[in-house]
Amino acid sequence: MRNTEIKRSNKLSKSIISTLAILTILLMLYYVVMRAFPMLQPTEEVYGSYFFPRAAWLFPHILLGIVAILIGPVQFIKKFRTKYLKLHRNLGKIYIISVVISGVLGMYLAATSNVNITYAAGLFFLGVTWAGTAIMAFISIKKKKIELHKEWMIRSYVITFAFVTFRVIEDVLKVTTEYSNVDVLTLMAWTSWAIPLFIADLFIQGKKL
Ligand code: HEM
Repeated sequence: MRNTEIKRSNKLSKSIISTLAILTILLMLYYVVMRAFPMLQPTEEVYGSYFFPRAAWLFPHILLGIVAILIGPVQFIKKFRTKYLKLHRNLGKIYIISVVISGVLGMYLAATSNVNITYAAGLFFLGVTWAGTAIMAFISIKKKKIELHKEWMIRSYVITFAFVTFRVIEDVLKVTTEYSNVDVLTLMAWTSWAIPLFIADLFIQGKKL
């Protein structure tokens, strides 16, 4: 009787996790298609006077950001990892290279942004954390520390996902509050990654308690 109850509750938590994962992926695809894809045309008309002078940095940043955000979810699927280990390894290398290059480009874009110092610092350190967590995931797997590699990959993807977190909460705050555009951008430059990173670590470390 107890065993059946445990099985039933495991099945329920698995379906809740799968449903949440599918919703998160749909949200990610929506923002990538609506916000990132249109910026893959580096013309003055599309980029406007704010982004066009930095197009040489922004275009590869967006392209590699899209590569990373699309590869990430595939890498977390256990069945895929066990069945196609070689592909998992190759996609992992593409993910890490994309994140490191796009992160460095992001740091330059942050340093040359025109909102305010708090916004620039938030995005600059987002770039540092993005590249840093991916490098830690790479070092862990090179040292054959699989658990550690998994943990750093979770942190890394939470940071990659900051692009979506930023846009979702920015859009909600613009509609539901009267904060200025600058206030919302400044707030999101920090909260879009610092809070999700803390929540991810609560899960990672909480499991060990
Ligand atoms: C997580 C690390 C990331 C950092 C540090 C970062 C940093 C930046 C910075 C500094 C800018 C210019 C903002 C400005 O000048 O006001 C920017 C713009 C942009 N980034 Fe990223 N980015 C990251 C991830 C991504 C990802 C994963 C994608 C794509 C999936 C992406 C797509 C874009 C797009 C489309 C823009 C220009 C349009 C806009 O602001 O909506 N970024 N990013």
